[in-house]
Amino acid sequence: MTTTTREPAIRVRAVTKSYQDLHVLRGVDFDVAPGSIFALLGSNGAGKTTLVRILSTLLRANTGTATVHGFDVASAPGDVRRSISLTGQFAAVDEVLTGRENLVLVAKLRHLRNPGAVADDMLARFSLTDAGNRRAGTYSGGMRRRLDIAMSLVGNPPVVFLDEPTTGLDPQARIEVWQTVKRLAKDGTTILLTTQYLDEAEQLADRIAILHQGVIIQNGTLAELKQLLPSAEVEYVAKQPTLEDVFLALVGDTADGAAMPAGGESR
Ligand SMILES: Nc1ncnc2c1ncn2[C@@H]1O[C@H](COP(=O)(O)OP(=O)(O)O)[C@@H](O)[C@H]1O
Ligand SMILES: [Mg+2]
Repeated sequence: MTTTTREPAIRVRAVTKSYQDLHVLRGVDFDVAPGSIFALLGSNGAGKTTLVRILSTLLRANTGTATVHGFDVASAPGDVRRSISLTGQFAAVDEVLTGRENLVLVAKLRHLRNPGAVADDMLARFSLTDAGNRRAGTYSGGMRRRLDIAMSLVGNPPVVFLDEPTTGLDPQARIEVWQTVKRLAKDGTTILLTTQYLDEAEQLADRIAILHQGVIIQNGTLAELKQLLPSAEVEYVAKQPTLEDVFLALVGDTADGAAMPAGGESR
């Protein structure tokens, strides 16, 4: 039991969800502190998306309760929706439109005043200003995912759900998304992200919860979780340079992720 006066930004209590005979969530409990990054780690089919859909009011739990930004997902879904953004696993970007047009469209849909200025602000925040007037179809994977996240953040919601934000991205694009997520949290946004990647949770999360067979089997800081492993494995995870490190050292960790034009000279 916590004695802090700060309400958790997300509170999940005994949430269950079944699809017919398939008991996906069997009693999930956790809290997410405001302004923190919380990683929900689980293998394919563990129920991560199901939980995110419950927390973002797209799906109802069978039993249990959850609040987001102080609002109950079952009894105040409208308030929850106004407090969150959700970026799914598959990018919602319109490839025919430019990056800027995509953002203007979302700002208009949200009935924001001055959608052009909102779009320009988001382009700047996500290092997409130079690419703003290019069709999104020409963007690299990392730029597209950044645009997708930017679109979901129009209106500056206090709580953000990122469902497998880097699945399918190349290592360089993943780093770009990680930098974006870290910057968001620094600005005070609460982030719940799901991932299958240990290194992603390791890089980003203040707390990591492991969802397995319908329940949270571990929930702690990276240091706490590492103490659970035998030391040899800790050494392997912590000391060895990863293939990703090598790849990035060779390719160069450029921020814009711009593709080299065909026949372009390399450095
Ligand atoms: N609408 C649905 N109807 C039936 N089964 C579903 C439905 N949605 C998800 N599932 C099943 O529930 C389990 C958890 O899915 P999901 O939450 O998408 O997992 P994750 O996001 O962790 O990969 C999977 O076995 C999936 O096949
Ligand atoms: Mg999923």
